Amino acid sequence: MGNSIRHAVVTGATQGIGLEASRALLDLGWRVTLVGRNPSALERVCADLANPTRISTRVADLSSLCQTNDLANQLLDQGEPIHALINNAGAYFHPRQTTSEGVEATWALNHLAPFGLTRAVKPLLRAASSPGEPARVVVVSSNAHSMAKIPPLEDLEFAQGYGAMQAYARSKLANVLFVREQARRWEQEGAGDISINAVHPGVVGTRFFRDNGFFGWFWRTLLDRVAITPAEGAKGLVRLATDPALASVTGKYFSRETEKQPAKLALDDALARQVYEASAKRWQEVLEA
Ligand SMILES: NC(=O)c1ccc[n+]([C@@H]2O[C@H](COP(=O)([O-])OP(=O)(O)OC[C@H]3O[C@@H](n4cnc5c(N)ncnc54)[C@H](OP(=O)(O)O)[C@@H]3O)[C@@H](O)[C@H]2O)c1
Repeated sequence: MGNSIRHAVVTGATQGIGLEASRALLDLGWRVTLVGRNPSALERVCADLANPTRISTRVADLSSLCQTNDLANQLLDQGEPIHALINNAGAYFHPRQTTSEGVEATWALNHLAPFGLTRAVKPLLRAASSPGEPARVVVVSSNAHSMAKIPPLEDLEFAQGYGAMQAYARSKLANVLFVREQARRWEQEGAGDISINAVHPGVVGTRFFRDNGFFGWFWRTLLDRVAITPAEGAKGLVRLATDPALASVTGKYFSRETEKQPAKLALDDALARQVYEASAKRWQEVLEA
């Protein structure tokens, strides 16, 4: 990477943890591509951030696999190496929703989008890597992954028995399984010059849960009692993207800035493989429809 300016792509950059991670990276001298679904929110955020010359924006609703794929293609066409991809956008859906592509929304946004975007932009990540300085992928998971029960592989999208918290927990478990499996695959195929890790940002005082009726209000009220600020919550993401001490760490789970053992289910390599394959198949089904 030498002394050249580093480039990060941050999803969910219009508010909360993603916005603060973007701000911190800009303060460190990075160039940041902010990804959001709402053009006017992106405009507002750009006006608020310092260093406008180092910001660009991309619009994509990441609950749509086609839009996520378009985003990846736009980034590939642009050709700018990506030193850090921060998959942060996420939400909680109560009641169950399906996207226009027929995918359960939590699974689409929280898991399939980071899964597909990361895989698609691999050439740009590799282009940013240099010996001892891997490009980094960060997947924002949650401690809630530990609440997930063994997922039935034939019903990953809860056609049966949807519960918003279980769907959220399952998507966040899938994030941790994904980084383990992707790290293993990249090592195996000689692309170990990219690192990928999952992070629980902490319990953070953002708008998360707010627009989800009574249950959202309940969770938000409970969490706000112990929440840290979005800037504090962003620290774990930023450390994983930038800290030279973590250059060789891959396939791991962090709670805020500290590496932690994830829940037992998240260490199940066979499950990681099965969920990875099911996710690749789901992507293919949607893109070919
Ligand atoms: N807050 C916590 O306590 C906590 C704890 C553990 C993990 N997390 C995780 O941290 C991440 C960030 O959450 P947050 O607390 O910062 O929440 P937030 O304030 O609600 O921000 C979520 C971000 O994701 C974006 N987003 C939502 N749906 C999207 C879509 N369909 N397409 C593209 N972007 C979309 C939002 O865009 P808009 O501005 O357009 O809505 C926003 O920028 C999530 O993955 C969440 O699961 C949060």
